[in-house]
Amino acid sequence: MAMLTLGILGSGSGSNMQAILDAIQSGKLHARIALVLSDNPDGYILERAKNHGIPAELIDCSPHKTKFAEEIQKETADKLKRAGVDLVCLAGFMRLVKNPLLDAFPARILNIHPSLLPAFPGIEAWKQAIAAGASETGVTVHVVDSGMDTGPMIVQKSVPIDPSDTPQSLHERIQIVEHQLYPEAITTYAQRLEL
Ligand code: GRF
Repeated sequence: MAMLTLGILGSGSGSNMQAILDAIQSGKLHARIALVLSDNPDGYILERAKNHGIPAELIDCSPHKTKFAEEIQKETADKLKRAGVDLVCLAGFMRLVKNPLLDAFPARILNIHPSLLPAFPGIEAWKQAIAAGASETGVTVHVVDSGMDTGPMIVQKSVPIDPSDTPQSLHERIQIVEHQLYPEAITTYAQRLEL
């Protein structure tokens, strides 16, 4: 398999980006991260990337709190293209990706979500699972389409919920599974697409 060039979009701490990077460095994932973009100036993901010498930039979405405006999506797509990105990985990115970004990377944008989709889409899925009294939840990696946490699934893994779980303890266990699953899913998908 040729060397994959990844672009990562995130809004938070970037622990999934770190897991992808660790998988690359340990030889489990044959890829490089060409660019990390974040809409959150305070997200640790940008600093984390820079600490590893990875180009990292802010996508300025202000004044919008949640909207990912069309012209900003176009700019984002252009940056990713210029960096030579084959596959875009959303890793805790809190805005909905639509056109023109989707069209610029058809079936080439992946997302990781902390539940067994289609159960519990949207924010804080681990809290939703506890509130629903579910006995298990999990992690899904899927191809992004224009919906929220919809799109063809690549892989899922379940995580049992203990009656004593707090949202924090459950989220921590989910994240351990995420960090293992995302690099594996990227490899599986890249092989499927012969990237
Ligand atoms: C993860 O739980 C991911 O599933 C969700 O947002 C969180 C991002 O965490 N979409 P991190 O920034 O990778 O640590």
